[in-house]
Amino acid sequence: MTTTKGNTWSDRFEEGLHPVIEEFNASITFDVELLQEDLDGSVAHASMLASCGVISKQDESELQRGLELIRLEALQGDFNPGIEDEDIHFAVENRLIALIGPVGKKLHTGRSRNDQVGTDLRLWLRRRIDELDQELEHFQLSLLSQAESNRKTMIPGYTHLQRAQPLCLAHHLIAYIEMIQRDRNRFRDVRSRVNISPLGAAALAGTSIPIDRQYTASMLGFEELYANSLDAVSDRDFVVEYAAAASLLMVHLSRLAEEIILWSSEEFGFVQLSDRVSTGSSLMPQKKNPDVPELVRGKCGRVFGHLQALLTMIKGLPLAYNKDFQEDKEALFDVVSTTKACVQSMSVLMEEGIEFVVARLARAVESDFSNATDVADYLVAKGIPFREAYQIVGCIVKTCVSEGILLKELDISRWQGFAKVIEEDIYEFLSPQNVVAARLSYGGTAFERVEEQLGHWRNNLGLEKN
Ligand code: ARG
Repeated sequence: MTTTKGNTWSDRFEEGLHPVIEEFNASITFDVELLQEDLDGSVAHASMLASCGVISKQDESELQRGLELIRLEALQGDFNPGIEDEDIHFAVENRLIALIGPVGKKLHTGRSRNDQVGTDLRLWLRRRIDELDQELEHFQLSLLSQAESNRKTMIPGYTHLQRAQPLCLAHHLIAYIEMIQRDRNRFRDVRSRVNISPLGAAALAGTSIPIDRQYTASMLGFEELYANSLDAVSDRDFVVEYAAAASLLMVHLSRLAEEIILWSSEEFGFVQLSDRVSTGSSLMPQKKNPDVPELVRGKCGRVFGHLQALLTMIKGLPLAYNKDFQEDKEALFDVVSTTKACVQSMSVLMEEGIEFVVARLARAVESDFSNATDVADYLVAKGIPFREAYQIVGCIVKTCVSEGILLKELDISRWQGFAKVIEEDIYEFLSPQNVVAARLSYGGTAFERVEEQLGHWRNNLGLEKN
């Protein structure tokens, strides 16, 4: 077997890595994603070293020049580290030394790759959280716009996927705006624990070099410092928290996706998907498939899987850094890119991919027993105790079902046969329009309440008040 003798390690090593192990050990193929953040961290570290008098101002400006050169090279596609660089941290350091000479060897003073990788990952994730927040707001706006176009549209409401009570469609859509708002709040909360600086914890114990951790933290925009060096280099809670918050977001997207898949089926026929977001079948020419929501639903598997992988990867690790941590990156990167793609696709779907079939929805809410609760409420208003009213309506529905008619088709004399207090106004009372309008309790589906909610979200999402 051939071996390579790299120059990464100290002279303690006489032989280089076995090529299979070299490849197995390397993370450069994926952690090159952290390049910008690795450079940002190094810029701050070099500046701090000079400010503390650990290196000269002249050394510092050489280091800064070299780091910016690497940034430029990357921009031009000329920074192409290989397996022999092992990871992004060595790749940058090696390139720096190649570019500016021996002074490049001073950069790693008072720092380890252990606090460095934690710093890079936090800076990277902080940016991604801010980007995702924008995407989520955009998605909420697309839901709001559909809700505003459907403030008078009604849709059957379900429990157990059985017709329950009719709803204002906007109310249904706003439920998702609420869920996404909780997601945004959760990510904001996670961000506060991402935004803590481990830099200067060094390998695990801190350093004897007179560094200033507050200096680098401030320069990098971190709000706090880890107070314990062991915890600083061993903490991956923030990665798990992000994956958990992303999993919940995926749950919400997937529930909406599932509804859209059902609604677009011939059986429901509540929505039409536009050509721009649907696909056909290679065999059946009549097919129009809801691939976008199906993919969103399907991609939950990998996001939940990464959460499980991360928890399992961490659970048995003694303090402090262990190479197992290298496994956090691909999981996190995939969680971030998958959720972002799902949010973007669902926004497009909401904005220009979905049209509610209003006539079909109107017919749907007209033709079931989802107004039965309202008969009971009607009787309650006439002084009959609810449980008694509930039983009376049970009998009425049973009769109608056996005769194959709807409540509105029941003759007034027959209504009165069930309860004397029932009058002619029962018919109006039972129209879906009035049934929805009557649900005025706070948080209810009444059009009036929904208008208030629309106003609330217009304000909340920065649109002018209507
Ligand atoms: N590539 C490593 C990782 O992603 C960087 C830190 C390596 N530290 C070490 N002591 N081997 O975790």
